[in-house]
Amino acid sequence: MTRSPEELDLDFVSLDGTGIHTSELQLGTWRFGKENDAGEVEIDETRAKELLDAYDAAGGRYIDTADVYGGGASEEWIGEWLQGRDRERYTIASKIYWQIRDGDPNSRGTNRKNVRDRIDALLERLDTDYVDVLYIHRWDDATDARELMKTLNALVEEGKVHYLGASTLRPNAWKVARANEIARAEGWEPFSVLQPRYNLVDREIEGDYLEFARQQDLAVCPWSPLGQGFLTGKYDRDEALPEESKVAASDRFQESYLTEANFDLHDELDAVADEVDASPAQVALAWLQHRDGVTAPIVGARTVDQLTENLASAAVDLSDEQVERLTAAKGGPYAGL
Ligand SMILES: NC(=O)c1ccc[n+]([C@@H]2O[C@H](COP(=O)([O-])OP(=O)(O)OC[C@H]3O[C@@H](n4cnc5c(N)ncnc54)[C@H](OP(=O)(O)O)[C@@H]3O)[C@@H](O)[C@H]2O)c1
Repeated sequence: MTRSPEELDLDFVSLDGTGIHTSELQLGTWRFGKENDAGEVEIDETRAKELLDAYDAAGGRYIDTADVYGGGASEEWIGEWLQGRDRERYTIASKIYWQIRDGDPNSRGTNRKNVRDRIDALLERLDTDYVDVLYIHRWDDATDARELMKTLNALVEEGKVHYLGASTLRPNAWKVARANEIARAEGWEPFSVLQPRYNLVDREIEGDYLEFARQQDLAVCPWSPLGQGFLTGKYDRDEALPEESKVAASDRFQESYLTEANFDLHDELDAVADEVDASPAQVALAWLQHRDGVTAPIVGARTVDQLTENLASAAVDLSDEQVERLTAAKGGPYAGL
């Protein structure tokens, strides 16, 4: 059954140790203003604002962006959209790391010069005084952990940032653990939110990373929860790629996700989807929401219909047996990032 965003009613969940409550599904805006490998913009300004409207109408309150998304367009469009709305009702997260100026090595990473330069620029684009969560988009080995935490703590003390997040891959969990030890010893703000890649195919964070998050009461907000669209049922092992997909234009996507092992996993996903009368995308998202240690997946969508379908996953209930079957059906991970 197709429902409109207004008929959905997303719940709030606790953002773990932060004490704040936010949406059980977060809105991802990576593809706002993003050009794919074929040179097409995946989500233009009009569509971006429609997606924000639809998410809001469904009760969604957590918007995830980054200062490099769409070369700043994502933050700008969110900032415009927020005008005339009550900023306090929304949790806004952004990220800093990737190089923004050619030939300027200091414009990459989390050195103090770069972080201080970029926080003000991103707040201006978002047209707000603060972001709820500021992530380091990746770990920067060139910046000492103590220097990093001191710089980030200053942003919290200045009121420009409420909470700190680390968007990382699994091998960097110990670096976050060490940085948090330094921060706590100094009375500085530690990282309290993690943003790893996690979906039925990409399972690198299972084990020590999720256990570390649980032990330290850190929120875990997975990105690419649908394996960039692979887990939606729109790809078929025997048929040509769907023309309307913008994501499929990437060679890396095709090589990583469109493998026999992943299509075998998808067969199990289809079987469970039939059993619960839901779409594969909804079951893939519901599986994540049933995983111990996951706080709230970040939902990506290129159209309002996709978004509505994905948000409706919040109402999909899976039995323990179905969760176990899906968990056992492993494919092979995405090679990039
Ligand atoms: N921290 C990081 O390094 C990082 C990295 C990546 C993403 N993120 C965050 O996570 C968010 C989500 O990532 P993602 O975009 O990769 O998420 P995803 O949900 O895995 O993939 C989203 C893409 O899948 C397709 N899709 C989604 N729902 C669909 C449906 N119901 N039916 C058919 N196709 C559907 C759409 O692409 P097509 O229609 O074009 O096929 C859509 O753009 C991002 O927006 C960003 O905020 C963070």
